[in-house]
Amino acid sequence: MSVVVVNKIDELRNLIKDFRKQDKTIALVPTMGCLHNGHKSLMEKAHSIADVTIISVFVNPIQFCPGEDYDKYPRTLQNDIEVAESAGVSVIFAPSVSEMYPNLNKFSDITMVVPPYELTDIMCGKSRVGHFDGVETVVTKLFNIVQPDYACFGMKDIQQLFLIKKMVKDLNMPVEIVPCPLVREENGLALSSRNKYLSDDEKVKALTISKSLFAIKESFKLGIKDTKKLFDVGLTNLDKNVELEYLEFVDFDTFQKVDDIKSNTICAIAARVGDVRLIDNVILEV
Ligand code: PAJ
Repeated sequence: MSVVVVNKIDELRNLIKDFRKQDKTIALVPTMGCLHNGHKSLMEKAHSIADVTIISVFVNPIQFCPGEDYDKYPRTLQNDIEVAESAGVSVIFAPSVSEMYPNLNKFSDITMVVPPYELTDIMCGKSRVGHFDGVETVVTKLFNIVQPDYACFGMKDIQQLFLIKKMVKDLNMPVEIVPCPLVREENGLALSSRNKYLSDDEKVKALTISKSLFAIKESFKLGIKDTKKLFDVGLTNLDKNVELEYLEFVDFDTFQKVDDIKSNTICAIAARVGDVRLIDNVILEV
């Protein structure tokens, strides 16, 4: 069956009403488009657990900070339709900015969903101030529009996943969040829409980001539990032209910083290669 593309909320709601009349379960995969195999794995997961898979393709302006890449973020809807179709997606919701935010020019008019400060004053939230307010707000809107049974999120954006799970729990949203594994290129580079910005030379440098994480994982397996020592292992493996933003160790269940690893721990990194900001992580399992 070919995928249907809808741009209007009312149109989407009418389609969903029909699915519900037929007692079909729905899985939602929120995306910003420029779909790659990482996104595809989420769609395939969605397709395997629900009768109908809906994806959103929306570059959400309110999660970009001033000076970030909102304007140049790749918009590739034709290709996205092909990827979605090959993954068994039924509907692509691709709204315009004015459809999602009729009052965007009066930014303070928008009701926002704001995660707790302690969980956003670390890692990506620290440099991208307000980013997760924008993410939680758009995801809440998408949940309200689609009312899915399931929503799939990638472990690539591990802080986002943690905050969405918490939001759903804290605000009693009737949706099951389905975490999906991080997908990499064969050489180890985490797949990202932003990899498109990298030159060949920058790609080589970017590879040292995952290399650092793998070296940390190896050292951890060999018995090093002190995160200061593990941090140094990471730094040694990072290309000197890669600008480190953070390399943090946080508890898998609480997102609190860890000094000495005693339970499952996320080791997450953000770094710049040229102008391109990349993130990656590995789980250190006890
Ligand atoms: P986007 O970056 O397009 O990612 C959409 C989903 O794909 C997210 O859940 C992300 O974690 C997942 N994803 C991206 N790369 C992945 C990879 N290499 N392996 C596994 N999953 C991967 O994240 C966003 O969009 C936005 O913040 C959004 C949630 C759509 C809100 O605007």
